[in-house]
Amino acid sequence: MSAQTPSKRLTTRDIAAMRQRGETVAMLTAYDATMAALVDMAGADMILIGDSLGNVVLGYDSTLPVTLDDMIRHAAAVKRGAKRALLVCDLPFGAVTDPQTALVNAVRVLKETGVEAVKIEGGLSMVPTVERLVAHGVAVVGHIGLTPQHVHQMGGYYMHGKDEASARRLREEAKALEAAGAFAIVLECVTPALAAEITHSLTIPTIGIGSGKDCAGQVLVINDLIGLNITPPPSFARPRADVASVIRTAVAEYVAETKAERGPIPLVLRAD
Ligand code: KIV
Repeated sequence: MSAQTPSKRLTTRDIAAMRQRGETVAMLTAYDATMAALVDMAGADMILIGDSLGNVVLGYDSTLPVTLDDMIRHAAAVKRGAKRALLVCDLPFGAVTDPQTALVNAVRVLKETGVEAVKIEGGLSMVPTVERLVAHGVAVVGHIGLTPQHVHQMGGYYMHGKDEASARRLREEAKALEAAGAFAIVLECVTPALAAEITHSLTIPTIGIGSGKDCAGQVLVINDLIGLNITPPPSFARPRADVASVIRTAVAEYVAETKAERGPIPLVLRAD
């Protein structure tokens, strides 16, 4: 039997109350049950089953190939591992092509995984979709700034909000997503001053990533936090551990000891 004391799962109301109190929301990604349990036990308020799954788990070089079935498989695993954090699952590229398709896909995610919310990348064009999901009882997190699903359209990964036109658009998108009913908005790679300004223009929490320290919450890809990567993490990540080298050392020791302890085992077939 588990020694873990069950604790109540956080809700969207708890997240709203945290914002009211000025308490920072700590969010991390997880993609499987073991990591979700560890992230949950360590106190994360929200866990994102991000479509960064494509990059850090499935070995793709972007999030575009990730399917709804991939997201559902991994979100269900995270749900089995995490007991307290509010769980948010990304709707992947191609799952939000119109409001009705997005609704059908969001309902499938909620029914088949048990997560509490979905996240949708995109600004003004996603407002009717967010409205439709919210009207049908789906809790939605918005995501603006650098939206990796639009990498080809945007022409790469870079900071957003540097010029006045881009800043104006981001302000407008944040307001529109809040009005549409999103309960939080991820600001990815938005210039820190603009991210702070947007944060203070909304009552729902902004969750920053690569957007400075003045958002109402922060999110990070778990692999970038613990140094579990084979390519360098983004410059804003500041890893707190080097799990990749722990794994490499443990495996190298295991390989060396296994070979040394056993010595050569000659191939001699025994007739029984
Ligand atoms: O997919 C993801 O992990 C994300 C975060 C980077 C916000 O969308």
